[in-house]
Amino acid sequence: MKRAIVCLSIVACVLSVSAIEPRYIGAAKCAKMCHKGEKKGNQYEIWQKSKHAGAFKTLGTDSSKEVAKKANVTGDPQKSPECLRCHVTAFGVKKELVDSTCTYNQGVGCEACHGPGSEYRKLGAMKKHDMAVKAGLWEQNEALCIKCHNKESPTYKPFNFIEAVKKDAHPIPGKKAKE
Ligand code: HEC
Ligand code: HEC
Ligand code: HEC
Repeated sequence: MKRAIVCLSIVACVLSVSAIEPRYIGAAKCAKMCHKGEKKGNQYEIWQKSKHAGAFKTLGTDSSKEVAKKANVTGDPQKSPECLRCHVTAFGVKKELVDSTCTYNQGVGCEACHGPGSEYRKLGAMKKHDMAVKAGLWEQNEALCIKCHNKESPTYKPFNFIEAVKKDAHPIPGKKAKE
């Protein structure tokens, strides 16, 4: 009987570990863990040069204020949910699931496309893709991009998924991109 209880509590413990809700950790941590430098494929460096990394800063520009005015948004765009929801990572996600290292300043970060990283990052090289997906890693597809690249953007430009993905492509060297 005692044995059965110990067994059960181990099972319960394992189950509760795998049920941890993944948190957003911010792009700098993704870089520090694995995704920086030539050998890895410069994902962080490529992203830093992309418009996504500057998406929050964009909201602080004069042209952004013009855009806001035309969209009838009266407050500071960097504080307006109407703008933030597409210009930062994890907007609207409950506080407990966003670490202080995931800041607005990082704009649209890795996790806006790859999902919150606190759990899948522990899986080392993420060799086990299925496990990583269970731990919070998202699949990338057109629907994901269109959450932001749509006509609700006051500066909407027609979005071509294939072309857009090529623009800031950041594959792992030697690994064939998925078709
Ligand atoms: C969380 C919202 C969000 C998601 C998700 C998102 N984007 Fe973006 N994207 C933006 C914003 C905002 C900008 C503009 C940033 C700026 O100019 O400051 C942008 C800009 C871009 C640009 C640059 C456009 C230009 O004019 O040079 C490309 C390319 C792009 N996104 C591709 C993608 C692709 C591909 C995906 C999906 C895999 C994607 N985006 C997902 C918000 C998003
Ligand atoms: C539905 C998502 C979404 C919302 C909401 C949104 N943006 Fe954007 N924003 C984008 C995307 C995506 C881009 C990249 C170009 C495009 O397709 O508009 C962008 C680009 C921009 C740019 C760069 C313009 C350019 O020509 O590249 C500015 C400035 C901007 N947004 C300001 C704002 C302001 C101000 C608000 C709030 C009033 C806002 N955005 C709300 C998604 C959004
Ligand atoms: C705008 C969305 C977007 C952002 C932001 C983004 N990625 Fe990606 N990432 C993608 C897409 C799309 C792919 C291609 C997926 C595929 O090949 O199916 C990709 C591929 C990758 C791959 C290769 C995966 C593989 O299995 O070959 C890695 C690693 C990666 N991203 C890491 C990062 C890191 C780290 C950051 C931040 C520094 C980041 N990404 C930012 C959309 C994004």
